[in-house]
Amino acid sequence: MKDTYDFGLVGLGVMGRNFILNVADKGFSAFGNDLDAEKVNALIAEGGNTHKVNASTDAKVFVEALAKPRKIMLLVPAGKIVDAIIEGLLPLLDKDDIIIDGGNSFFTDTDRREAYLAGKGIHFFGAGVSGGAKGARLGPSIMPGGNREAYQHVKPIFEAVSAKYKGEPCVAYLGPKSAGNYVKMVHNGIEYGLMQLTSEIYDLLKKGGNFNNDELHETYSKWNAGRLQSFLVQITSEIFAQDDDLEAGKLVDKILDKAKQKGTGKWTSQNAMDLGIPVPSIDIAVSMREISALKEERITADKLYDRPTVEHMNKASIEKLTEEALYFSFIITYAQGLHQLADASAEYGYELQIAEIAKIWRAGCIIRAELLADITTAFNANKKLSNLLLSPSFVEKVQNTVASARELVAYAAKNGIPVPGLSNSLTYFDAYTSARLPLNLIQAQRDYFGSHTYERLDREGVFHTEWEQ
Ligand code: 6PG
Repeated sequence: MKDTYDFGLVGLGVMGRNFILNVADKGFSAFGNDLDAEKVNALIAEGGNTHKVNASTDAKVFVEALAKPRKIMLLVPAGKIVDAIIEGLLPLLDKDDIIIDGGNSFFTDTDRREAYLAGKGIHFFGAGVSGGAKGARLGPSIMPGGNREAYQHVKPIFEAVSAKYKGEPCVAYLGPKSAGNYVKMVHNGIEYGLMQLTSEIYDLLKKGGNFNNDELHETYSKWNAGRLQSFLVQITSEIFAQDDDLEAGKLVDKILDKAKQKGTGKWTSQNAMDLGIPVPSIDIAVSMREISALKEERITADKLYDRPTVEHMNKASIEKLTEEALYFSFIITYAQGLHQLADASAEYGYELQIAEIAKIWRAGCIIRAELLADITTAFNANKKLSNLLLSPSFVEKVQNTVASARELVAYAAKNGIPVPGLSNSLTYFDAYTSARLPLNLIQAQRDYFGSHTYERLDREGVFHTEWEQ
């Protein structure tokens, strides 16, 4: 049994167990490790007879079972536990062994761990894994970053287990250090944005078009067969069809409207602020989860203020407007997230290939969407493209749908339906595509009250004026 297993995995929760069984399905031998004997036994029971899978609660037995250089993936919650596991493994490892953190670790933690382990001759990868439990079992999108040479040892396994888009694996070496975790973080930021948008469109169809759950199910299913085809639109259509198993009616109507979060969307927003890259469709998605959490205050405030009576729209009209507005705002959200990646790449030295990232998001991950095929093409056509909105291939798509976004934002404002994701996407578009913004006035104000200086349109240099007071 010693030195023979191709792959090791620590953390046999649902994700870990599914991932290791996926590895074994592809013909690699795999060894699992977890402190919980029940999880170890469950894995052996599930895969032990049919696959070359084994497991132990003992870290020494686990490490000794692996072929060198050892490839050990951690699928555990982000945070201190990752450091604790690394410390436990370290004395058992040899030079050039590889540890891969498959969780949603914060990227600066990955940088710290990578530097620490490099000093000990161990390679460390931060590899975002997207696709949930089902993805882990059947094919996730994997976003690895770390040492390029060491990746060659991991590559055959990751390419085999990852999702495939038209036969191409949804995994690629993304860059050094925390590149993989960073990309996964922004993936999640985009995920927050797309989820917020699909929920606003649901609200518009329900309040503005009187759509019932069956009609919502049909509409989202129809959309999923068109240019909006995506995992999130698909599961949304299925959610509207789900009966409540406790009472009569559909489950969606019984779910408390407070959305939780584990932090990756917030990190995306926070880091975008640090970089100075605007991602308002993601920012507002985080804020909306925060507003949703204020349920009790919302109930009180609801009673204090009148809201307009909603003027209903004809079903066919609102369906057409919402389809176009959703497509428009999906594009804007991807544009913002990818812009952040391009900028972060320069700032942190990741050397990210945006086309490569869009390519590995086409299947397996939560934000997979037909649109990503076009996005991949756009970034392949211009490797230096900073923002999707500058790609000639996207001008028509945006131009043809923005009018519906305008109409719906105006309609929603007039009727008191909150659509902050949609309106932030529209405002971002209007601002990003304006050659002249009124921020000359802000510069004048700054110079007026604080002598902060300004530049001029018509001549070089930095100016200050003694404003007449
Ligand atoms: C994925 C998901 C996953 C994350 C969920 C939940 O790509 O498979 O992004 O990593 O756990 O998005 O995140 P929140 O709890 O923050 O909504």
